[in-house]
Amino acid sequence: MSDPVRDLYSEKRYPALSHPVTDPARLAVAARMAGLQRLAMPEASRVIELGCASGHNLLPLAARYPQSDFTGLDYSDTAIRNARKASYEGGLENVLFETGDLEHWRPSHPCDYLIVHGIFSWVPDQVKARVLDLCGQVLSETGIACISYNTLPGWSLKRDVAPLIRALAANPVAQGLGGSIESVAASLAEMSGSSTPHAINLQAVCREMVRKGQDVLPFDDFAPVCDAVYFGQFHSWAAQRGLRYLGEANLRDNLPDGIDPAALQRLAPLAEDPILLQQTLDLLSGRTHRVSLFCRKDAPLEDGTTTAVVLQFAVGRGDVELPSMAGEGLLIAIFRQVLADAGNSCVPVRELMERTAERLAGGWDPATHSRELAGWIYQAARLGGLELRADGVEIPSEVPEYPTLSKLNLHFAANGLPVVDARHVSCHFPAGHGRLLAAMDGTRSKGELASVAQARFPELDFARWLRHLTERGLAF
Ligand SMILES: C[S@@+](CC[C@H](N)C(=O)[O-])C[C@H]1O[C@@H](n2cnc3c(N)ncnc32)[C@H](O)[C@@H]1O
Repeated sequence: MSDPVRDLYSEKRYPALSHPVTDPARLAVAARMAGLQRLAMPEASRVIELGCASGHNLLPLAARYPQSDFTGLDYSDTAIRNARKASYEGGLENVLFETGDLEHWRPSHPCDYLIVHGIFSWVPDQVKARVLDLCGQVLSETGIACISYNTLPGWSLKRDVAPLIRALAANPVAQGLGGSIESVAASLAEMSGSSTPHAINLQAVCREMVRKGQDVLPFDDFAPVCDAVYFGQFHSWAAQRGLRYLGEANLRDNLPDGIDPAALQRLAPLAEDPILLQQTLDLLSGRTHRVSLFCRKDAPLEDGTTTAVVLQFAVGRGDVELPSMAGEGLLIAIFRQVLADAGNSCVPVRELMERTAERLAGGWDPATHSRELAGWIYQAARLGGLELRADGVEIPSEVPEYPTLSKLNLHFAANGLPVVDARHVSCHFPAGHGRLLAAMDGTRSKGELASVAQARFPELDFARWLRHLTERGLAF
């Protein structure tokens, strides 16, 4: 029997992508903040990814944590062949890629981190059920499942708009709108204006489609299966498999953007029913997508001890500008400076506190000040102004004399794939730059690389380009 989902993945190549939100260094923090105890830290853990495609998400993690054990599963032969090749070229010995249908797959061992990204909403119902069964079966006692899915009611306009855009793209009389899904979406965004609530919503939906672009749309909004679910429903399916909701993978997403503080106050009584609260936040925010964390129902949980927990982690710049919060005094001002001096690195919180204590010139009271700082760090991380990670990220402050990419990134660059930076973000470079990146194998000084760049790309501001690579932790 034909299977349109399987046909799609055998006919079209899914783009190579890494997803920072699935990085175990961040998942560990989110789970620990939600009270999960004794969880395996990423540097000594077992990680499984279902539907891993060509391994672009899993491979950089395997390279970062050589003592951990990684398994990727996908039913696309081509994707798994590419993943194995990259693993070989990257010199990785701790990652295994298996070809198989997750509907019938039996894991050979439990795992501490289970990543299921870009699967659940895009597979038939019986596979959805199997995904959740696997989450219930494969987690170790303190394991975490990280699973992404589309949510209602936010997704509903996208769901209703997609078939109409598809029809317009296919109809010759509508050629003036561009003739492709992406160009029809762009035309509709332009034509809709913003004079009514519907126009504003439609414009946002169409712009988001344009942003995703033609490489991703056939696998996402325009995939043969593209479903959405109410959070409450998803939670109840997970609970039937013995899973407990921990929170969102991205700390910041526990409270979606744009909710009025006064509204949050009125919702405070709903804290007694966290699932209803989350469902109501989806209703108010119109969020279309979640990446949620679940653990086993019998996993050891404790109530928040913010200070002790924050002290276990490393901290660096977040996704948004660090907000200024009420009651910030000298202590926080000094900490902010210490953090700014760390540049793009992510540094253990204890170390930053020691640097703060030194600058506070004798006035440091360990109990009070570390508690105040930890509370502030926690709040700033929840707002996205800081990134908390299980381990540090060291970014050189100067461009190295012999800038060198990792073996894995050299392989990606040589094959025209995006390289993946120290924070697990995929970096896309213009066509042709791959050869320049691939020249960074440690044998050429920055002066020699500048000559290569000058010959091939005379327009390129090479010094800036190289600084950018260094700041992202790509060149060491
Ligand atoms: C949208 S891609 C997501 C890839 C990756 N996880 C990501 O988020 O970038 C979905 C992947 O799941 C795989 N897949 C879909 N159904 C599957 C099944 N029943 N068994 C195994 N792999 C499956 C596809 O081959 C494809 O590589």
